[in-house]
Amino acid sequence: MAQRPFIVGNWKMHGTRAMLSEARAIDRAAERMVKVEVALAPPFTLIHATRKEAELIGVGAQDCHYAESGAHTGDISAPMLKDSGAGFVIVGHSERRADYGESDEIVRRKADAVIAAHMNVIVCIGETEAQRDAGEAEAVVTAQLAASLPGAENTAERLTVAYEPVWAIGTGRTPTVDDVSAMHRAIRAKLVELLGEAGQSVRILYGGSVKPDNAAELLSADEVGGALVGGASLTAESFLGIIIAAA
Ligand code: G3P
Repeated sequence: MAQRPFIVGNWKMHGTRAMLSEARAIDRAAERMVKVEVALAPPFTLIHATRKEAELIGVGAQDCHYAESGAHTGDISAPMLKDSGAGFVIVGHSERRADYGESDEIVRRKADAVIAAHMNVIVCIGETEAQRDAGEAEAVVTAQLAASLPGAENTAERLTVAYEPVWAIGTGRTPTVDDVSAMHRAIRAKLVELLGEAGQSVRILYGGSVKPDNAAELLSADEVGGALVGGASLTAESFLGIIIAAA
């Protein structure tokens, strides 16, 4: 990994204020982990409090609406997230694509909104098990990437891509290191095709059942610039195990 690895915890729909102690513990430990960039994406309700608790790590959101404001009951816009202390937003997570039918076009509009609000964006892509079994994984993932990427001129500076095979999320199953390497090389090639040389500097995270005991191996795969971690980011103890493996 040429750049500092980026380890992001996605808390999904977990966490009340009682969990802020975990964020605080992660933040305190991050002070000693200067070789790793660490961030947390707690639920919307904890963004502001996490930002106040955690001084060193990045704090972001798990989704946003693509509109700046308006009649969208229950939704949250990118400028609102920035106002609450978020520095980045995850868009296109497969759980949102599956639960809310979010298309690549919707994901792209959300990514555009995040960049327009002067935040960084993590765009998630990944194939289902059926697509992998059919030998379509690379084609599906690179097509998702092409259609989900924001169009702003400074996209490369603000962008992180997260490759999360859907079948590896929360299942304890992971692809082999060779499979991760092959997919990340394909994503890198597509980024360069789409963004030119700037595409070389975009970090590509791996996500899906990353744990303290498999993190070092997964992070050693070609073109892996860090990890997007779900379940194992919910306690400081397990998340720190992954951060240490990345250091
Ligand atoms: O965004 C992270 C995620 O989808 C992976 O979840 O629980 O398999 O680490 P998990």
